[in-house]
Amino acid sequence: MARIAYDSRDAAAFAATRHLPDQGLAAWRAAVARHLQPRPGMRMLDLGAGTGMWAAAFTDWYDDLDVIAVEPAEAMRARCTHPHLLPGEAADIPLPDDSVDAAWLSTVVHHVPDLTAAARELRRVVRGGGPVLIRSAFAGRHQAIGLFRFFPEAIRVLGTYPSVGEVEAAFGACGFAVTGFEQVPQTTSPSLREFAANLRREAHTPLQLITDDEYAAGLARLHRAARSEQGPVIDALDLLVLR
Ligand SMILES: C[S@@+](CC[C@H](N)C(=O)[O-])C[C@H]1O[C@@H](n2cnc3c(N)ncnc32)[C@H](O)[C@@H]1O
Repeated sequence: MARIAYDSRDAAAFAATRHLPDQGLAAWRAAVARHLQPRPGMRMLDLGAGTGMWAAAFTDWYDDLDVIAVEPAEAMRARCTHPHLLPGEAADIPLPDDSVDAAWLSTVVHHVPDLTAAARELRRVVRGGGPVLIRSAFAGRHQAIGLFRFFPEAIRVLGTYPSVGEVEAAFGACGFAVTGFEQVPQTTSPSLREFAANLRREAHTPLQLITDDEYAAGLARLHRAARSEQGPVIDALDLLVLR
């Protein structure tokens, strides 16, 4: 059972507000290239692909990369524009053994009920010691994510996400070792004003799981700050790489 169900309302909010423009992703593009070492004809699994933002970015960045998106929620798949899309989930990946060169999981690991089962499946489908790249906010690592400044109660929710150590242990049990860990910045929005205007609670799991009063208080803090603060909203999430 995922942490939230991703119905059509969540999927619409996610598609409308969580797709980052390519110009804000320069550091992610560089980080992925460092760990992926892309080469012609490579196949990559985008597991828990959602509405397909990263599958689209990878397809745009690399001419000859075949991205296979796998996504369990029907509502997310309905909004995903990536052509190579399969229903499926981490504990039962709908691909043959040794069929991809790498896997990408962006803000997915906190939804996966059994990380060891997921790691076992990734070990099965990723061939030749290829990398599993995990982009996530991990438990205890809220400091570089602006949302938690305005909604500090959501740090409580983040505390229920897997920690880096828990992911490392689950993957370690299936023969993976950590080969990289870095915090990667992104431009989330050109301004706090725009971020506040576009924020949709249902597009952010930590905001869905705080109380209505906590959400209302955070929203007031955000709108107050947005009236005076200038400059882009820069957040940093972690990239954990295992092979
Ligand atoms: C926060 S969204 C991230 C979507 C996309 N990866 C992105 O970064 O734009 C989390 C996604 O994980 C999917 N998900 C939930 N449980 C999953 C599971 N057990 N295995 C794979 N994906 C799962 C959800 O359906 C949802 O699309």
